[in-house]
Order: sequence, then structure tokens, then C-alpha cells
Amino acid sequence: MKNIPLKLAILASGSGSNLQVLIDKQLNNELNIDIACVICNKENAYALTRAKSANINTFIIDKDDTGKPYKRVEFEQRALDILRQLQPDLVVLAGFMKILTPLFIGGVNNDLNIPMINLHPSILPAYKGLDTHARVLKSGERLHGCSVHLVTEELDAGQILTQSVLIVKPNDTPTTLQERVHALEHTLLPRTIDFIIKGVIDLDDVKQIYQFFSHK
Ligand code: GRF
Repeated sequence: MKNIPLKLAILASGSGSNLQVLIDKQLNNELNIDIACVICNKENAYALTRAKSANINTFIIDKDDTGKPYKRVEFEQRALDILRQLQPDLVVLAGFMKILTPLFIGGVNNDLNIPMINLHPSILPAYKGLDTHARVLKSGERLHGCSVHLVTEELDAGQILTQSVLIVKPNDTPTTLQERVHALEHTLLPRTIDFIIKGVIDLDDVKQIYQFFSHK
């Protein structure tokens, strides 16, 4: 049987540390993936530097030739064109900080028929949206973590696939929580992709949420 790598298109906006984990795992043959491209909406994102250093195809959809930022619809149409051409097996939102509209999500899920996953820094369905670490602390939660879920048109509301959970410490600040959750993400995202590759998770028929607990 031929062992074809899972072809990924990754959308990122920021530092790209989760992207880096995937790059390293691909290079070290620890994950059977082929990162076909990185699409970025910020021309100065460090994720781009990481992708270029690994010789990955990068697409920047930030400003047009006159320096005017692309409108959301223009961004989405351009990104869809790239995905249509490359035909990845899976789209991964790894620190992609732009809200996507039904134009893009429907285009990927229904027209191109490509599944799309997102990494979110909370134990969904709690704390959708931004500033999760500060909100978790403000509410006095004892548990926090991150989730990988399927992307659907409603923000952070698609089927949850996997989660990593940690215990909030009395002296945690939004910064320390962010760092600790970030470390969990670096394991959760590749592990989730590995589960998809190995058929442990069937994206067409998700039967359970896989949860992992961290004592760190
Ligand atoms: C992560 O915390 C992720 O949960 C959020 O954006 C951050 C991305 O981090 N959506 P990085 O760019 O991969 O370092």
C-alpha cells in the first residue's frame, strides 16, 4: 500500500509556532504530511519567515499593488483560488486571526469539498472568540486549555475533535496561561492531524472528542 502524505494548506497570521511544529514533524518524518502552502494575511508575519526557511510555497494576501489592504471578500476569493489550484486534503487554521465568512468556509467545505480545522485556545464550547486567557482568569475557572475543531460558518462552533486541558494555577496571569496553553497546542495540533491520518478520527463521522489532561 502506498503511504501518501496528507497534503496540508495552512493559514496563519502571526508567529507561526504551531506551523513550525508541523514543519519540524514533516522534516523529521514524525508526521506523514506534505505542507503544500502557507497562506498569510499579514505581510510581516513571522510565520512567513518560518515557511520560507523550510522552502514552503507562501502566499501573502495582505495589500494590493497600490498598498491598499485587501477587502475581506478579496482575501477570501484569492485564498479560494489558491486552494482550488493546490487541492489540499486538509486546510489548517493555525493561528489565523481573520474572521472568515460563509463565502470562504462554504467555498472550502462545500464547493472544494476540503475539510478545515481550527486551533482555538479554550476548552470549547466555552470561551469562543478572542482574549480567552484573560476571560478564563476573570471568571475564576479552574480548568483551561485548547481545542481543535472543524470549521463551520458559526465562529468556533464546529464539531470538536480534540482538547488538551490544564489546571489554572492561583498565580497564573493571562501571559503565563497563554504560554502554557501554547505549549499544549504544540502537541495537540500534530496529534490531531496524526489521528486524522491514521483514521482514529473520521472527519465525516466524528464519534467522540479526544481529551488529554496536562499536569504541568
Ligand atoms: C494560538 O494560541 C492559537 O490558539 C490562536 O493563535 C495562536 C497562534 O500561535 N488561534 P502561533 O502563531 O502558532 O504561534
